Amino acid sequence: KNENQCDLIMFGALGDLAQRKLFPALYQLDAANLLAPKTRILALARQDYDTDSAREKLKQKLEEHIKAAELDDSVMSRFLSRIDYQQLDFSATNDYVSLREWRKGGGGALIVYMATPPSIYGMIARNLRETECIDTATRVVVEKPIGHDLDSSYEINDQLAEVFNENQLFRIDHYLGKETVQNLIALRFANNLFATQWNQNHISHVEITVAESVGIEGRWGYFDKAGQMRDMIQNHLLQLLCLIAMDPPSDLSADSIRDEKVKVLKALRPITPDLVETHLVRGQYTAGTANGRPVPGYLEEEDAVRGSTTETFVALKAEISNWRWSGVPFYIRTGKRMPEKLSQIIIHFKPAPHYIFDPDQKHLANNKLIIRLQPDEGMSLQILTKDQGLHKGMRLRQGPLELTFSETFNQERIPDAYERLLWEAMKGNQYLFVRRDEVEYAWKWVDQVISNWEEHASPPKRYAAGTWGPVASIALITRDGRSWYEDA
Ligand code: BG6
Repeated sequence: KNENQCDLIMFGALGDLAQRKLFPALYQLDAANLLAPKTRILALARQDYDTDSAREKLKQKLEEHIKAAELDDSVMSRFLSRIDYQQLDFSATNDYVSLREWRKGGGGALIVYMATPPSIYGMIARNLRETECIDTATRVVVEKPIGHDLDSSYEINDQLAEVFNENQLFRIDHYLGKETVQNLIALRFANNLFATQWNQNHISHVEITVAESVGIEGRWGYFDKAGQMRDMIQNHLLQLLCLIAMDPPSDLSADSIRDEKVKVLKALRPITPDLVETHLVRGQYTAGTANGRPVPGYLEEEDAVRGSTTETFVALKAEISNWRWSGVPFYIRTGKRMPEKLSQIIIHFKPAPHYIFDPDQKHLANNKLIIRLQPDEGMSLQILTKDQGLHKGMRLRQGPLELTFSETFNQERIPDAYERLLWEAMKGNQYLFVRRDEVEYAWKWVDQVISNWEEHASPPKRYAAGTWGPVASIALITRDGRSWYEDA
């Protein structure tokens, strides 16, 4: 008996997410022998294919999205043989009856993955219930965006809650599946060294940068309604902030971790109208360069509507009103069309209370912990040592205690976030998924930021594609006598 024996039903199986991320992740799980021998996958979409032609199409896509060195004929044929395809009108209840028939041939848990727009989650859930395809052991995986604001997130969550219990719902934030993001939990709660330092007594401020070099990638219509605040901050960046700021959970269970994250979200200080000017910068990219090539501005992208004031960049200063973090700003920035793809967190420690070295070097005296999420996953602790050589006297030198995961652990490949998340869903482990109240508290905070900036009615500041964002985002941090790490 394999405890991970399960059947997976994938709605939206021919969509971009499924083809680009989900099937390649499932293939990798199969290659790593993590799929139970009898695990089957039912791919559902509106398009007119049969199982053979759908397998052929999937094969082409897998070959496109998986590195050639990681493709293997026997894994490919084993993986494809797990897949059945069915054309389905998601709104036609009768069509679902055949899903029940398909399920009769399998065993283990049933996982339903809704890789569809959130507006139809409720409809799919009701149809599954009406045709008795599901029971209380069924697990459901859903993608962001869970709504556009707090009210619409209630609507989606309520529709799901009509059919499923919270312990059946696996809301994806793919950042939680990234190797280094998970490592934050190990770093913080397995190392007493950091545990005792992790508060306002020892940390002066925290930086979180999630920079993307890509632009809008053909998603202008979707993106323009969302903007970087809803698309990235409401979910990924607030999740990162929670993992850094949360109190130690009493164990690793999903609810213990999620309870602590919710406390952080509840303690986030609102960015009230009087703070908008100093705590928030919105930007929109104009024409510039990406990888040395000229690229158009946001308003000149395909499908763009002139005059849009949607932000493609946000920098903000978040504050957490609790004992641990009082007086410790979290400077956060994220944007499209930045010079490189780079996600990192920097914990800036306070200087030693009494400084006895060369006054000219005093600016070096802050230890920093740099956590690189991507690319080149790893951590580096910047410490001060004595510079070598007799003539150097007691000159200090700043250098890293470096841990690059791929070198240190001799890891050939770091699994994609979706591999881990699908694997955890198969095991029924919810700790890397987002609970309803997390989504809602995050929206509550984001909604008030958005409504306060709308009141301000100032258009986003321009920045050229290929730069680190509007100048105002530099002022946001230099005003406090600090600088973004790259500019240091
Ligand atoms: C998605 C956003 O959730 O995350 C995209 O919708 C963004 O706009 C992407 O590009 C970034 O993810 P990653 O894993 O490439 O950092």
